[in-house]
Amino acid sequence: MPATLIDNIKMLVNTRDKFSLLKGEALSILPCIEDAYLVIEDSQIAEYGSMKQLKHKAENFAFHINATGKIVLPSWCDSHTHIVFAGSREGEFIDKIKGLSYEEIAAKGGGILNSAKLLNETSEDKLFNQAYSRLQEVMRLGTGAIEIKSGYGLTVEGELKMLRVIRRLKMSTGIPIKASFLGAHTFPLLYKDDREGYIKLIIEEMLPIIAKDNLADYIDVFCEEGFYSPEETERICKAGLQYGLKPKIHANQLHISGGVQVGIKLNALSVDHLESMDDDAIETLANSSTVGTLLPTAAFFLRMPFQPARQMIDAGCAIALASDFNPGSSPSGNMNFVVALSCIQMRMLPEEAINAATINGAYAMELQNEVGSITVGKRANLILTKQVPSLQYLPYSFGANLIDRVMLAGDWLSD
Ligand code: NIG
Ligand code: FE
Repeated sequence: MPATLIDNIKMLVNTRDKFSLLKGEALSILPCIEDAYLVIEDSQIAEYGSMKQLKHKAENFAFHINATGKIVLPSWCDSHTHIVFAGSREGEFIDKIKGLSYEEIAAKGGGILNSAKLLNETSEDKLFNQAYSRLQEVMRLGTGAIEIKSGYGLTVEGELKMLRVIRRLKMSTGIPIKASFLGAHTFPLLYKDDREGYIKLIIEEMLPIIAKDNLADYIDVFCEEGFYSPEETERICKAGLQYGLKPKIHANQLHISGGVQVGIKLNALSVDHLESMDDDAIETLANSSTVGTLLPTAAFFLRMPFQPARQMIDAGCAIALASDFNPGSSPSGNMNFVVALSCIQMRMLPEEAINAATINGAYAMELQNEVGSITVGKRANLILTKQVPSLQYLPYSFGANLIDRVMLAGDWLSD
């Protein structure tokens, strides 16, 4: 592929020759180069440096972009989403405005069960088309790697259908995608009084087929009061681990559920949500190599207290930020807003939020060698901003569309 030169970049963000999972204080160190250039070749980052070091002539490149006044960042790494879902749930949104809680809506058959009913009535092609257009939308918003969960099937066929859709998305989109099997999202109506029967279905029927067909990379469980207990979470994750599926679990969203401790005991890649944390959960997380993935737009949408990001960072935790894009608790996959909200409501510094939404998000998907920083040899998945006064201006001016162009694997995404 012909080479591209981007020069006169106001700031090239998250430049790292070496990288590691960022914990605690290290999150606030965001290496950047002012007045920089970047060379992209064969869909990868080939070279970068300050303009003073630039030895090439622009006319020797097939493509040349003058980025005066603009910032270049690695694409967002969104490590927790549920973008394969059927339809939408704005009816419940109105119920929430009128005062019902997420749990009350779930208890009356809404919530996840509502989406499961719709999903099982929707054809695989339709499901794919809906998810594909959501994926295109978030890619235009700067997402360059994404994790997608099942969990709205809750039947053998429904879960497999979702995972097949994710596999199709992997093949038809140019960004890295990881699939998590979330059969344990809730208990389907049919098994309301037979929890054990549904857990058996997950372990004895779903998992063997998923493993044989290589349909998932990770296993997820919604560990929460009224959903799956820590003991049930452990059993299901251990069954997944036998097939090589590492846990990435929903923990401590609505209550202090013991999910964090169980996840760390199982050496989970990440424990996600973390709205409800106590000192023990924070300390356990800080003393582990598990990523704590915060989903502030879910807290925002459900009008819940935000995740205690400051305490977690100060305690030494590794924090990632993700969108949780789903029809019930975060009907948006806009990582620019996730980053802004993290600064505004969780008091994360812009540097911390950008690290959490790029390199640490990549770690939460085991994609750190491919994406998440400006590093020679990594995939050229980049965000080129419009002209902005500073890096801090990005989260400060929340809601504004400050992305000029997005590059994925060396190609500019067309509008
Ligand atoms: O991550 N909390 C569990 N699962 C999703 C919401 C699912 C839904 O309401 O459809 C979440 O918030
Ligand atoms: Fe989720």
